[in-house]
Amino acid sequence: MDLFEKCRAFFTDPDAARVMGYPMSPREAQKLGMYPFFIPLDETDGTEVTINDQRLIMIGSNNYLGLTAHPAVRRAAREAIDKYGTSCTGSRFLNGTLELHTELEERLARFLGKEKALVFSTGYQTNLGVISALVGREDVIIADKEDHASIIDGARMALGRLLRFRHNDMDDLERILQGIPAKAGKLVVVDGVFSMSGEVAPLPDIVALCRKYGARLLVDDAHGVGVTGRGRGTAAQFGLTDEVDLILGTFSKAFASDCSSHDLI
Ligand SMILES: Cc1ncc(COP(=O)(O)O)c(C=O)c1O
Repeated sequence: MDLFEKCRAFFTDPDAARVMGYPMSPREAQKLGMYPFFIPLDETDGTEVTINDQRLIMIGSNNYLGLTAHPAVRRAAREAIDKYGTSCTGSRFLNGTLELHTELEERLARFLGKEKALVFSTGYQTNLGVISALVGREDVIIADKEDHASIIDGARMALGRLLRFRHNDMDDLERILQGIPAKAGKLVVVDGVFSMSGEVAPLPDIVALCRKYGARLLVDDAHGVGVTGRGRGTAAQFGLTDEVDLILGTFSKAFASDCSSHDLI
């Protein structure tokens, strides 16, 4: 069996696509002009784009504040490239930390009201790095069923067990917390603003349950930071910045840069 065959079949064979649970193959969707993926933008100002000479309003992106087009942001990016070049060509541990990174981390921590901030290359990598580093063999990750994929991938990389509770269901979260042995380290992980529905996690209830059962709390606020809580995110919106142990934000959304994220401790 050729490993690649299923990919070819999915793209071109309507029956194969249907067996996989899709209403039609991508090729059929393309023919009907209904394939929404990988459409190249000729130009983008953030909130407006050009596709095939047509000017369109972009309502599908995460450029919530339109900052990718802001002159000060563009100028700062140009100045950084002039000074440092286009890559660190090394890991943060060894030769890849610039003084610009440490300044950014200090300013982020101050802005968000946390003790420390750590910048990763992307939001996805922040979840992979933080969850897999913190959660050891005897520990447990307790994640909302609608958490972002990067949280689940981080949990898969971690040595500990992953348990999932029904979306925003506090009774189910408590049921799961009750069943975990007291000696296990516990990390509850939720999206602050859920990426697919835009729903907000009930942080006051979640914080109370974490306190009751001795669990730490990570809020993935990729869609909240820059937008809610006067830019400080969902925890700030609820007045709970001090009670949330770890807050994840990302530069790939409101903060207008594709190549770094921050995790706050
Ligand atoms: C909730 C959530 N967490 C993490 C990420 C990953 O962020 P990034 O795109 O910066 O890797 C996303 C991106 O879609 C997200 O929606």
